[in-house]
Amino acid sequence: MSKEIVVSGIRSTGNLHLGNYFGAVKNFLKMQHEYNCFFFIADYHSLTTHPTPADLHSNVKQVLVEYLACGLDPEVSTLYVQSDLPEIAELYLLLNMNVYVGELERCTSFKEKIRKQPDNVNAGLLTYPSLMAADILIHRALKVPVGKDQEQHLEMARQFGNRFNRLYNTELFPEPYAFNYGTQLVKIPGLDGSGKMGKSEGEGNAIFLADTPEAIRKKVMRAVTDSGPTQENQEKPEVIKNIFQLMSVVSSEDTVKFFDDAYNTMTIRYGDMKKQLAEDMIKFTAPLREKIEAIKSDEEFVSKIARRGAEKARESASATVNAARKAIGIRHF
Ligand code: TRP
Repeated sequence: MSKEIVVSGIRSTGNLHLGNYFGAVKNFLKMQHEYNCFFFIADYHSLTTHPTPADLHSNVKQVLVEYLACGLDPEVSTLYVQSDLPEIAELYLLLNMNVYVGELERCTSFKEKIRKQPDNVNAGLLTYPSLMAADILIHRALKVPVGKDQEQHLEMARQFGNRFNRLYNTELFPEPYAFNYGTQLVKIPGLDGSGKMGKSEGEGNAIFLADTPEAIRKKVMRAVTDSGPTQENQEKPEVIKNIFQLMSVVSSEDTVKFFDDAYNTMTIRYGDMKKQLAEDMIKFTAPLREKIEAIKSDEEFVSKIARRGAEKARESASATVNAARKAIGIRHF
């Protein structure tokens, strides 16, 4: 039996941090062996917010390199850059003919975007869900590993696919559904005390895999704490729990226990704890950072991976677009 098809888009500006590493990346590494996976860097989507031409390619390359360094295997999964597939743009155009402005305007992410960038309410922003539907439908995917924030986009992809099928009397597009392993992922809090590690939470909240030791030390030493325990064995407030949680991910059990005991006996010095945490984070990320650097400097290798990925993806994509054109009634002379 052939494996089920998985498609996922990766934001082209999303340099990986520890939260991603223990979240999306870990899932991708498992999925690639169990499904027929298509992972791509969504550079077209990033154009909806107008990045500068000078940054675009280096962002795409960095993200590609980081996923490779983490272990995404281009021999098992198909790894490509969205803009390398003209078929996606074509399917996007074809789908858009039966997508209604009203339904796009009602999309939550669109409403949020026009609040955030009122001076740049472009048609790409409005049709973001059509493009995402094209990304998914182009490989006739069944599973899409995305979080809750993408649920509405996925529902629209199902709707657009079903509508196409109905209008053109075909069964070309199956229904894609959100997919995760259902197992609890380890929680990776940020350093600013606000809870989750995230890129958008502000400077200094996230530890990126490509961060230098100096950058890691600086960020960790600035992590939010409190004025210390006031009673023995007291329950830790959230910000302190977060620091301990981060430590439990990168440090040895003995180290965590040492500081836990110190907290409980009220002898803890947060400065010492942060120093230890920073060194352990550096140790943890060092092999990844080295791999990132090594892969990045091998232009030839990275280009080859991207070209081969696009070639593989286009096989599947062109078959779908040809079938869509045929269903619509487009014929070559
Ligand atoms: N919208 C997704 C995000 O912001 C990225 C994305 C684009 C995507 N196309 C996709 C995800 C197709 C899954 C499938 O994270």
